[in-house]
Amino acid sequence: MHSINQLQTIINKAIADTKYTEQPAELYEPISYLMQLGGKRMRPVLVLVATELFDGDINKAIDAAIGIELFHNFTLMHDDIMDKAPLRRGKPTVHAKWNESAAILSGDVMFVEAYKLMIRVDDSILRKVLDIFSDTASGVCQGQQEDMNFEQRGDVSISEYIEMIRKKTAVLLAGSMQIGALIGGAGKEQSELLYTFGENLGLAFQLQDDILDVYGDPEKFGKQVGGDIISNKKTFMLIKALELAKGEIAEELNYWINLDSFDAEAKVSTVSLIYNKLKVKVLAETEMMRYAEKALTALDKINAPSSNKELLSAFAKQLLIREQ
Ligand code: IPE
Ligand code: IPE
Ligand code: MG
Ligand code: MG
Ligand code: MG
Repeated sequence: MHSINQLQTIINKAIADTKYTEQPAELYEPISYLMQLGGKRMRPVLVLVATELFDGDINKAIDAAIGIELFHNFTLMHDDIMDKAPLRRGKPTVHAKWNESAAILSGDVMFVEAYKLMIRVDDSILRKVLDIFSDTASGVCQGQQEDMNFEQRGDVSISEYIEMIRKKTAVLLAGSMQIGALIGGAGKEQSELLYTFGENLGLAFQLQDDILDVYGDPEKFGKQVGGDIISNKKTFMLIKALELAKGEIAEELNYWINLDSFDAEAKVSTVSLIYNKLKVKVLAETEMMRYAEKALTALDKINAPSSNKELLSAFAKQLLIREQ
């Protein structure tokens, strides 16, 4: 079994070797730009880890792994338009560097390129892999639309939030693991356990992303800190703050949330201060740990060599103390 670092190197090399040189250049250059900006490569690594967990051959999984990373980058390209985000991986977003039309169409063609890579899996599992991939992609779109709908609502519950992040983020981690498991030759029960692992890891991962969006170090995070506060994203922390705030604090929070035009810096610093007063960060961290533990419980039940499983649990833990 390869180490996580080795798998990351394999993925990065495969991505560096893939050139998007077709014409018109305006359609393909943004793909190369975003794919070469780096990122943690977590999803393709999860595909390969899942394949190797059951002693499968990672060479049979690399195209699918890159397909998953392309799909992920396509969702980021469109998400950044939707979230009006200026920065991604420490650099200007595609729509900021080119324009929105370029980011929409480059994203579309990335999705097509992702399918072209996915269909290279063995014929014997092709239909199953495409079913998982298509369900995953629909799930991400559903979650993304809910995320946008929730910006306009003040009464989003924690369970609605969890369901939304399950779709927009967790299903892709879960689907990546399930595809890897299929390529590795795992049976139904094992691949379902791995799905549960990925799903709970994904929930923990998005909770952590929402925490970093407020408390991250801008240099390391690579995205605009405070973006979620600016756009009234109904994160775990905002939902909890709305629930816990009383009296003047509630008035102040509602005042900022309901303003149509405002100074972004002032809003971010005031809402962050309210979060600090209400201690919602630690509540979010507790929730994150709860899902991380659920993930590790599912991993425990998987019938694979314990050294392979330890590698995966170490990777999961590392993702949850990340700063980017
Ligand atoms: C960003 O994903 C989108 C979320 C689901 C939070 P990552 O944090 O995996 O982004 P990269 O690929 O490492 O840049
Ligand atoms: C991202 O959620 C989920 C998808 C891209 C599908 P976010 O909007 O929180 O992701 P970041 O923070 O921009 O990476
Ligand atoms: Mg978003
Ligand atoms: Mg975003
Ligand atoms: Mg985010």
